[in-house]
Amino acid sequence: MAERILFKHIDNPKQYQVETYVQNGGYSALKLALKEIKPAELIEMVKKSGLRGRGGAGFPTGLKWSFVPKDSPKPKYLCVNADESEPGTFKDRQLMEYDPHQVLEGVILSSYAIGCHHAYFYIRGEFGFGYKRMAQAVEEAYQKGYLGKNILGSGFDLDVTIVRGGGAYICGEETGLIESLEGKRAMPRVKPPFPAVSGLYNCPTVVNNVETLACVPHIVNRGAEWFASIGPAKSPGTKIVCLSGHVNKPGNYELEMGTPLRELIYTHGGGILGGRRLKAAIPGGSSVPILTGKQIDVKLDFDSVAAAGSLLGCAAVIVMDERTCMVWMAERLSEFYEHESCGKCTPCREGTFWLVEILSRIEEGRGTMRDLDLLLNICDNISFKTVCALADGAAAPVVSAIQHFKDEFVAHIEEKRCPLPHRAFDFDGFVN
Ligand SMILES: Cc1cc2nc3c(=O)[nH]c(=O)nc-3n(C[C@H](O)[C@H](O)[C@H](O)COP(=O)(O)O)c2cc1C
Ligand code: SF4
Repeated sequence: MAERILFKHIDNPKQYQVETYVQNGGYSALKLALKEIKPAELIEMVKKSGLRGRGGAGFPTGLKWSFVPKDSPKPKYLCVNADESEPGTFKDRQLMEYDPHQVLEGVILSSYAIGCHHAYFYIRGEFGFGYKRMAQAVEEAYQKGYLGKNILGSGFDLDVTIVRGGGAYICGEETGLIESLEGKRAMPRVKPPFPAVSGLYNCPTVVNNVETLACVPHIVNRGAEWFASIGPAKSPGTKIVCLSGHVNKPGNYELEMGTPLRELIYTHGGGILGGRRLKAAIPGGSSVPILTGKQIDVKLDFDSVAAAGSLLGCAAVIVMDERTCMVWMAERLSEFYEHESCGKCTPCREGTFWLVEILSRIEEGRGTMRDLDLLLNICDNISFKTVCALADGAAAPVVSAIQHFKDEFVAHIEEKRCPLPHRAFDFDGFVN
């Protein structure tokens, strides 16, 4: 098994305290960078490391930082995306609860790189314990001189403000997050302009995920080449994979990028519940195309998962065993997206509503064959036609479920029942 980097000290019950963090080598990257590495060099270092964003899109982190205009007279902001609300995701939460200084050191280093003097830490409102741990870490960092004015005598100043999220999935979309930070409803903005040019208060802004930022101290300590040498060349590093669903040992696993799905499920996850067969898995949270059980050997890195027809996203793998009804799965996810749509774009607002309507009538045995074409048509009208990617995420699992499991949809329509033996039902409801 690969070396654990971000999770190296995660099981130490005292790691959240600054003294323990420092004993374990913490804040040494900050000391090194402030003394010996210029901001522009740090950006180059992160570019060279090949680090790609861990929040979903996999965009190269150093490149994103380099889009921040150096000559802008406006303040520059770093927004830490700690909203983590996608079904199946729970990795950032563990980092914040059990190793908050690691995240904070990444925030300070990243702020230094882009010339930010006020970073905003936007944490999901429901994460009460994570908030408490992060707030304590920020306070300790101020006391020890890692935050505030003239950090460690370097002349660099940084304040960190923690803001609790607005309680909606859309608060995690980068421009929705910015709107929410400005005190408004988290309705995403049309891009361009991208946040790097015009973000928080119309100032240059970088939005980065918690796990992405937590990688930065290690890149500084051990070098860009070291990081780039882990895993596949185009998706280097380790990745915390959230494993959930029908597995014996759900949880967070830090694995080298490129680890096969089979190893994740059968070695780390202890196999499928009850020894049943793997039917499908969603590799990137709930907003990406599903993989079938036959794709068990796909490697979990950005490019390999894309080549297999899906997306790694934030690497939250939801496992479904042979007893899972794919029509039901598509309906449940569509309900989530309908509920979470901010309503700004007609295709998303109306389309997610109709997905739920049609999927539930198929699931209840009241569908027609025309409904299948209608579903695909709606998905086509939703995908890539909206302000943000929530709508694409709503359509992807539905389209791929129909693609891979059409027989199951047809059986619901023709036989007016779920074909899975344990889910036999008639019009009056389930009778198993
Ligand atoms: C609907 C929606 C929800 C999102 N939620 C999150 C989230 O909770 N956390 C996160 O880091 N990124 C989330 N993202 C991705 C962010 O918009 C953004 O790409 C990310 O924070 C960038 O950070 P990174 O470059 O470090 O990955 C979401 C995107 C969409 C479309
Ligand atoms: S795609 Fe949906 S969630 Fe995103 S801005 Fe449009 S309506 Fe809002």
